[in-house]
Amino acid sequence: MATTSSSSNGTLLTLRVLLFCALAAAATTTLLPLAASPCSHSLSRTILSATGLDPFLLSCAGDDASASPSLSSHGDDDVDGANHETGKASRPIVTDQLCIKGELPPDALPPFQCCPPASASEPINFTFPDPGEPLRTRRPVHVVGDEHMAKYARAVALMKSLPVSDPRSFYQQANVHCAYCTGAHRQAGRPDMGVQIHFSWLFFPFHRAYLYFFERIAAKLLGDPGFALPIWSWDVPEGMGIPEVFADVASPLYDPIREPSHAPPKVADLDFFLQGEKNLTDQEVILHNLRVMYRQMVSGATLPSLFLGQPYRAGDAEMPGPGTVEWAPHNTMHTWTGDSSRPNAENMGVYYSAGRDPLFYPHHGNIDRLWETWRNDIAVGRRRRADFDDPDWLDSSFLLYDEEARLVRITVRDVLDADKLRYTYGDVAVPWLTARPHITPGVNPKPKGGLPLESVRFPVSLDAAATVEVRRPPRAQQLRRSLEEKAQEEEVLVIEGIEADAGDFVRFDVYVNAREYYKVPVGGREMAGTFATLKHPGKEGMVVRTSMRVALSEVLEDLGAQGDESVTVTLVPVRGKVRIGGLKIVYMEE
Ligand code: C2O
Repeated sequence: MATTSSSSNGTLLTLRVLLFCALAAAATTTLLPLAASPCSHSLSRTILSATGLDPFLLSCAGDDASASPSLSSHGDDDVDGANHETGKASRPIVTDQLCIKGELPPDALPPFQCCPPASASEPINFTFPDPGEPLRTRRPVHVVGDEHMAKYARAVALMKSLPVSDPRSFYQQANVHCAYCTGAHRQAGRPDMGVQIHFSWLFFPFHRAYLYFFERIAAKLLGDPGFALPIWSWDVPEGMGIPEVFADVASPLYDPIREPSHAPPKVADLDFFLQGEKNLTDQEVILHNLRVMYRQMVSGATLPSLFLGQPYRAGDAEMPGPGTVEWAPHNTMHTWTGDSSRPNAENMGVYYSAGRDPLFYPHHGNIDRLWETWRNDIAVGRRRRADFDDPDWLDSSFLLYDEEARLVRITVRDVLDADKLRYTYGDVAVPWLTARPHITPGVNPKPKGGLPLESVRFPVSLDAAATVEVRRPPRAQQLRRSLEEKAQEEEVLVIEGIEADAGDFVRFDVYVNAREYYKVPVGGREMAGTFATLKHPGKEGMVVRTSMRVALSEVLEDLGAQGDESVTVTLVPVRGKVRIGGLKIVYMEE
């Protein structure tokens, strides 16, 4: 079955789980030290379990379940190895002009140095464009028509023809992305730390600022002030595939370093991750894609941090954890597009080179559009779908060159209102808004009467599928919560202390109440999340340390499991080496 890994060869590897409420990093390899854990009320259970008498042992994560991680008070509930500093001083990530040679993966393609040309003068602060400027309407490639695409092609050709020393050249524009993802750009006042714009709350705002200037440079070179970037809307059936014009060898939009088997008219698989092609019809792939979109945009993204990513402040370890859309389809479509025969899946399949493909910009146009869609067009109960108001987020800033080749400092605050930036999106449908995934019958949801669970001690190397009973916050506590609180909160599975091999593409999937997970199709309701990283060698060694959050409320509702004391979580490795620190379930509201 396509969704299972080679290492899970269809045999259900159920593992009995011990979930230490003492945090993952402190987990020991014997059972008894648990007695010293702060989670004393589960002690008797623990001892029972250690003696083999208890059928399963659950997490005591419920202890802090009422503690809603409050983003505005800098609440750190993570144990991801982030070297958080104490105190509440403001800590936005401010990009410095200092740029050093970044960390590229082995076998990278030149150029190996991606810092932009130094600016002769100090950066200027961003100012909004004249409100009288024409509003650019970004539309999907498949609706804008040939004439508009010819314009985009001409803009790329003009950028490619600028001298490489010009920061507006295509060469340097591609480098900008490379510099911000390889640790080349340094943080102001912290020359020892790089600025990383993936796997955190900087993901959406950075890429928005980057596209904003890219689009204005294109418009300026074209002499067409209203020019709008076309977007690759891979989330609607008509857009699911590389648009023809990008595959025209004679076009400036062509990139020879792409996956040849994914040339048009191949339908894109939003769940792709270099694990091989699935044996599905186009209609099936489209249906699965819509369900993946629903999960990532609707049921999985009910709170700001679940969608936008985790807080990342000056001095923090990088990559605290991305939002749903960054995992997929963002990362998955990068790998789907890149050339799988190259060690790093260039160009699109790896951060440092992704900007070298003219398809990168329409890809990110679609990502940016999904941010607008999430905020404006999706309502679920009373849960907040709004941007953060944390000053550390708002005051974080990037340095980018504008259409006049001036170095500009632009903050997250500056990019929150697309209207003020004088652009909008048009002619895009959201067919996935109603594609609520279906439940899969016969997947052996709970251990009762089923196969016994083996012990799992965290941290665990995910060499095979691991099934874990994770206790939900105690019911009494749930009952005490008012209806209003319940309407605003989301039940979240937190996967902490993740260590993924930075030298490989790593993927694992998260299933809920499906011990026979291999029966669940892509986008099935029980498939609650996908962890997917691109290669990312860094200063901190060959490991990506991060975390993942998976929204559970709607999934448990659909599975009829709202009343259960625990959730059966199965983590299924698909590719690469990864270690998991621990799991817990908490209620969050933001
Ligand atoms: Cu900065 Cu699509 O990656």
